[in-house]
Amino acid sequence: GGREDLAGRHVVVSAGGTREAIDPVRFIGNRSSGLQGYALARTAVARGAEVTLVAANVTLPDPAGAKVVRVESARQLRDAVLAAAEHADAVVMAAAVADFRPVRQSDTKIKKSSAEPDPIQLVKNPDILAELGEIRRARREAYAGGDGAYEAPAGRGPGTGDGAGAPEEAAPGGPGPRVIVGFAAETDDVLANGRAKLRRKGCDLLVVNQVGENLAFGTPDNAAVVLTAEGGSVDIPRGPKEDLADVVWDLVAQRLA
Ligand code: C5P
Repeated sequence: GGREDLAGRHVVVSAGGTREAIDPVRFIGNRSSGLQGYALARTAVARGAEVTLVAANVTLPDPAGAKVVRVESARQLRDAVLAAAEHADAVVMAAAVADFRPVRQSDTKIKKSSAEPDPIQLVKNPDILAELGEIRRARREAYAGGDGAYEAPAGRGPGTGDGAGAPEEAAPGGPGPRVIVGFAAETDDVLANGRAKLRRKGCDLLVVNQVGENLAFGTPDNAAVVLTAEGGSVDIPRGPKEDLADVVWDLVAQRLA
C-alpha cells in the first residue's frame, strides 16, 4: 500500500460474469463472483489510477473511487470495454465472458409444454480480449506506416489519454491501450494452454488460474501464474485476490514506465 505508481494512468477492469438471455426470466450464466476484478479495481485506485470498472452481474458494493459501468451480456460488456479502452493506458479483462449466446431471445417466457422442449441454439460471442489486441495491432501499424514499430505521436504523453497529435485519418481514436491483460482458467496443461492463449489473443500478460481445489471461483483466495508476451512467467502463490491484483499492477506499472 501507499504506492502511487499508477497516478495519472487510466485503467479499465472488467469483472464478474456475463448473462445471455434465453427469455425474460432465464439466462445462460457462469459462476464468476467478480471478487478478483473488484480486488483489481480497489488496488488500482489505491495506487493512484483512474479506474473504470465494467461489472457484469456483480452483487458486491461499488469500490470507492472507481467509475462503475454495469452490464449484463457479453455484447454490452464489449461496448463498454471498447469505449473505455479508447482513453485507457491498460485494460485488464478479469470478467468471465460467455463464449456463446442463444441465437434467439424470446420476448415472452417460454412455456412448459408436454411436447419435447426445443433445443437452445447457440451462436458465438465476440472475443473482446482478442478484439482489443487486434484493434491495437491495426492502429500501431497505421501509426508506423506499416513497419510494425509503434512511435507515440508527439503530445500524447503517458496518461494524458486525449490522443492529441494522433494522425486522425490513419488511426482514428488513438493508439489503443499500451498494456492488455487477460485471465484464463485452465484445468489441465495450464502452462501450455496459457502460452497458446496469450499468443492467440495478442495480449501482453495472461494470468492463468488453475481451476478446482476450491480455488478461483467465489473464493477470497487465488493462485496463478502470470505469463508475459516475452515468454517469461511469474508465479503467484495461493493468497488473497488483493495480493494477486497487486502483482498484476506491479507488472502493468513496469510496462507503462
Ligand atoms: O478463451 P477464454 O475464455 O479462456 O479467455 C479468457 C480471457 O478472454 C479472459 O480475459 C476473458 O475476459 C476474455 N474473453 C473475452 N471475450 C470472450 C471470451 C473471453 O474477452 N468472448
